[in-house]
Amino acid sequence: MVVTGLWCLPLVIVILHSSPSNGWYRSTKIRQCENRRKTGLTGRSHADIVTAAKLWAPVVRLAFGEEWKPSSVDYFLQHVNLRGGSPTSVTPSTLPTCNSNCYLETKTHLSCPSCREPAVFKGQDPASAPAYAIYEDKGSVVEITYWFFFPYNRGKRACGGLYLDNVCPCVKVWGHCPCPRIKGCAGGYSTFGNHVGDWEHVKIKFNNTKIYSIYLSVHDSEITKQYGGEFLWIGNEFRKGDRTIFTTDCTHPQVYAAKGSHGIWPNTGDHVYKKLFNGDKLKDLCSAGTAWKTADNLKVIKMAAKGQFTGEFSFLNFLGRWGNREQNCPKIIGHCVLENGPGGPPK
Ligand SMILES: *[C@@H]1O[C@H](CO)[C@@H](O)[C@H](O)[C@H]1NC(C)=O
Repeated sequence: MVVTGLWCLPLVIVILHSSPSNGWYRSTKIRQCENRRKTGLTGRSHADIVTAAKLWAPVVRLAFGEEWKPSSVDYFLQHVNLRGGSPTSVTPSTLPTCNSNCYLETKTHLSCPSCREPAVFKGQDPASAPAYAIYEDKGSVVEITYWFFFPYNRGKRACGGLYLDNVCPCVKVWGHCPCPRIKGCAGGYSTFGNHVGDWEHVKIKFNNTKIYSIYLSVHDSEITKQYGGEFLWIGNEFRKGDRTIFTTDCTHPQVYAAKGSHGIWPNTGDHVYKKLFNGDKLKDLCSAGTAWKTADNLKVIKMAAKGQFTGEFSFLNFLGRWGNREQNCPKIIGHCVLENGPGGPPK
């Protein structure tokens, strides 16, 4: 009996020490994380870079209720025709280089510039949508740009006329407004800035073998300077000033795609990025909805000289636009209800 009891003791200790709430278990997890983070980039072969690209691939959090999900290029091309070039019907490997007059147009006709009927706009289940990574070996520095494709960018509802933000409609008396103030849109709301085809990207850098930074470009250069830009790796997260991009599963930076328009932000929240001439504001709404784990379905390719991508990556040679032509562009707003499709990668 004494012998059996003693024999059991180490087993009891092991069980106690392996319970998830236990400090020993946690510190093991931390050590595992540290090891994976230190792995960085082990060499410069294609296989080494593919491994690192997957290890550090972002997790893109779509917004709650996101209707316009990502898709593969392959899926999108099945639902559009090439215009201004040939052939009309294209695949990722047959999309020609073409020129800036070429564009892709939905096979389903858009009955109005903000109509949402083509089913392809909804994209695919993020669990099966690939992301595309293009890498450049620049000697000590290796850059990997992750590209995300969405068949549709939903624009923003904005006031198409005069937006009255608490305006006093009568003569003020001693600085006070004696009549009721007016707030709201005179002229009605429309959704501006819709477009077919939407490419977003983030860039990760390695210095020698180590992870170095992540770069987010948000809208224009001014917003990027303020909210995006280069976040440096500081041991267990990416940091720029007092802003942080956290990792999930040790090495995957978590970024947030704005609802409908998919601009990539470092954090959740309602981000005002533009004030219109009439005082109305444009906002990107970011929240932690579905996690699109781009590592699970990542297509990695080395940067090629202009026009030199081959096979299933030939679509990267395309110089045309990735969506329908613009429609309904009131001069006063400076935006169209349907904008031209964007150019694609690489940039
Ligand atoms: C890259 O790493 C080397 C050391 O391995 C260091 O001297 C250099 O400053 C680093 N570059 C940057 C941009 O941090």
